[in-house]
Amino acid sequence: MTVTTAAPVPAAAARPAAGSDACADAGICAPLPVLGRDVSVPLVTGGEVTYAALDYAASAPALQRVWDDVAAYAPYYGSVHRGAGYLSQLSTDLFEQSRETVARFLGCREDDQVVFTRSTTDSLNLLAAALPSGTHVFVFETEHHAALLPWRRAADATVSCLPAPRTPEQAVAALDVALHAAAKGPKLVCVTGASNVTGEIWPVRELAAAAHRHGARIVLDAAQLAPHHAVDIAELDVDWVAFSGHKLYAPFGAGVLAGRADWLREAEPYLAGGGATRTVGRGAHGGLDVEWHTSVARHEAGSPNVIGAYAVASACRALTEAGLDRLAEREQQLLRRLREGLAEIPQVRVLSLFGEDSARVGVLSFVVDGWNSSHFAAALSAEHGIGVRDGLFCAHPLVRVLLDAEPGEPGECGAPDAAPGDRALNAIRVSFGAGTPEEHVTRFLAATRSLVRQGAVWKYRTEAGRCVPLKA
Ligand SMILES: Cc1ncc(COP(=O)(O)O)c(C=O)c1O
Repeated sequence: MTVTTAAPVPAAAARPAAGSDACADAGICAPLPVLGRDVSVPLVTGGEVTYAALDYAASAPALQRVWDDVAAYAPYYGSVHRGAGYLSQLSTDLFEQSRETVARFLGCREDDQVVFTRSTTDSLNLLAAALPSGTHVFVFETEHHAALLPWRRAADATVSCLPAPRTPEQAVAALDVALHAAAKGPKLVCVTGASNVTGEIWPVRELAAAAHRHGARIVLDAAQLAPHHAVDIAELDVDWVAFSGHKLYAPFGAGVLAGRADWLREAEPYLAGGGATRTVGRGAHGGLDVEWHTSVARHEAGSPNVIGAYAVASACRALTEAGLDRLAEREQQLLRRLREGLAEIPQVRVLSLFGEDSARVGVLSFVVDGWNSSHFAAALSAEHGIGVRDGLFCAHPLVRVLLDAEPGEPGECGAPDAAPGDRALNAIRVSFGAGTPEEHVTRFLAATRSLVRQGAVWKYRTEAGRCVPLKA
């Protein structure tokens, strides 16, 4: 693509990306600056404390750099595509440059497309809507609901849900067997790169090889992998990658589906409307003749989320410049510290599908003997200013497997109607990333030890599906 406009946007990109160069001493490097790092929150026990955001897997805080880039661009914001004005042309160029930045970030192949969507959920629903007739889809029951469910809506698709494997090798073998037994016709495998429950990394390259051996395609749900790890679509040899901006430190409402163009080009437009059409005219019998675009525009009807796309591209640049390997190494140090600390608390059981030694990102779920997880999470927040998540994390079948649930045992998101100490089918998830200071992990471990040993100091009750502190 040729960029014709001299873009005078004062690029925050010129400023350093990394939080600091303070890696020289033996400790863990400084985090990347994120918004909210100095926010104080009240404690039920009195006073305030700096908020420890340990729910990155749900939504990560915005990188300061992303925020600055968006703020620098905002005065230049204009309508994109066919706007004749200067700012429209500038915004169009930046929007299309953002697509190219994302393509580079993902190591896209020459003829791959990058479609801007709203989120991973939206990206996978788009792909589900683009399946060729009669596609057989294979998923593991361990997927996030966003990767588990969209295929059911595809008109004439068959969905095979494979049971939770207990090792990466088992996953590859099970897929191999299932694909081998499948009838001829289009096939799609959908797999997560890293679990949003256990943080465990899946053998994506091997699963892709198995898929391709049997003539199937594969889409990688990189919602939890991309924020922690380099994702190279060509090197992994996957057909599509989906991820969300808000988990990649760019919470401005954009997501991405990148990969092969053919199924997308041949599918009905995801949304019917302006921008997706080349021409619309009168047709026979009072109808309309519509010619749809065959480019990415086909699936981006309506006015695009320019700022969202720009923010995603800014995050891609910031993470690349900070060094994804260096960030991953830093995260592994925090993860080691977290796991060692939790291992010293016998009442804590960390959930794992693949076992102790499996590779992971900074996402970890656990249960505590004698505690309802919802109560535990509420006490971490109210008494220690620590934000974690509790529940089944939109991966109900996986959490049921990990917690050895009975077939009929109820489990749902939110706080079950169970007394604080009762067993309930839920877990606590702690997740972090490039903006997490070591102090948050230290504080989380101290708070967990204190809650396990001394109990909560406050009283809690379930209110509208949430466990909340009783008012003083
Ligand atoms: C592995 C995984 N896939 C998909 C999603 C859905 O992402 P979004 O809510 O941004 O659509 C999530 C969200 O937590 C996730 O963890």
